[in-house]
Amino acid sequence: MSPPSVPYRKIFVAGHRGMVGSAVCRRLGAETEVLTADRERLDLTDARAVEQFFAENRPDAVIFAAAKVGGIAANAAYPVQFLVDNATMAINAIRGAYEQGIERFLFLGSTCIYPRDCPQPMREEALLSGPLESTNEAYAIAKIAGLKLCQYYRKQYGAKFNSAMPTNLYGPGDNYHPEHSHVLPALLSRFHDAARSGANSVTIWGTGTARREFLHVDDLADALIHLLAWPPAGREPADWVNVGTGEDLTILELARLIADVVGFRGEILTDPGRPDGTPVKRTDVTRLHQTGWRHRIALHDGLQKTYAAFLRETDEGRLRNHPDRLASS
Ligand SMILES: NC(=O)c1ccc[n+]([C@@H]2O[C@H](COP(=O)([O-])OP(=O)(O)OC[C@H]3O[C@@H](n4cnc5c(N)ncnc54)[C@H](OP(=O)(O)O)[C@@H]3O)[C@@H](O)[C@H]2O)c1
Repeated sequence: MSPPSVPYRKIFVAGHRGMVGSAVCRRLGAETEVLTADRERLDLTDARAVEQFFAENRPDAVIFAAAKVGGIAANAAYPVQFLVDNATMAINAIRGAYEQGIERFLFLGSTCIYPRDCPQPMREEALLSGPLESTNEAYAIAKIAGLKLCQYYRKQYGAKFNSAMPTNLYGPGDNYHPEHSHVLPALLSRFHDAARSGANSVTIWGTGTARREFLHVDDLADALIHLLAWPPAGREPADWVNVGTGEDLTILELARLIADVVGFRGEILTDPGRPDGTPVKRTDVTRLHQTGWRHRIALHDGLQKTYAAFLRETDEGRLRNHPDRLASS
């Protein structure tokens, strides 16, 4: 796939070492100058450092994929840090970009911004229509602050700032911690272990009937670069756009696909004593499709690519499997 063309010469990818940021860097073509800064060089919670960085480096556009992320336990234990760090980073970057005359800003949130009991599929209009899921409320509030600030800069000053809200992601660079990872990497890791050890069965949590949606992170990167160039001159962009496939499957169906990919031939059992979570979680992608973008990586192909990356990352000793780096989406 050739990289989509981008009307910006120099793009700052914030969070370039993360799962999303690294996918965006891989996807940007050679004609784009990709600007990155390690956290040691630029702490995004430091407003002065952020403004100085923009003044010195003058990118034309920013893709903001930096965030302090954590699992349910971390979100529950440290809501202050999740709200303060994420809101501070977002405000520093958005305000700093505007003050330094940066033309385009694309902020990343997640579908945790939508209400806990959001009608399915989740439409962009559902924002702020009901209480948030309590387990990641602080994170969601910080993300809402970021997307609203982009909206206000656009409304008040005409800035070309807006946001993308990705669904559950998977792909290279994911977190495989046994207790703190998302469902897809957790299942991939467990089925891999079971296939290697010759186990007869794997038991998955819950009834397996909950329905979820998954997008390969390389598709997300492609969508973000597409959205950066959207809309064509003279048309107004949407303030935020869901980025997903709009397709879901049951957890049991996902487990079967993963078992096939990793070569597990044993039995898959369910454990109805464990919670299923929300019965359905799926994004409405009408707005995204109206921009002319659709996902291209089918789930089975994406899982094969992800498993290859998992094996490579394991061999090279760089598999992410520590607890504190997991998006709470
Ligand atoms: N992963 C998913 O399933 C998913 C789903 C929906 C939405 N999203 C959204 O996508 C975005 C990126 O998620 P991700 O999964 O790529 O997360 P990630 O892999 O943990 O990456 C986050 C990045 O942010 C950087 N960062 C954190 N605090 C920083 C600070 N104070 N200064 C500078 N950099 C800082 C981290 O730097 P270090 O490398 O130094 O730690 C890391 O590179 C988030 O907004 C998340 O909500 C993710």
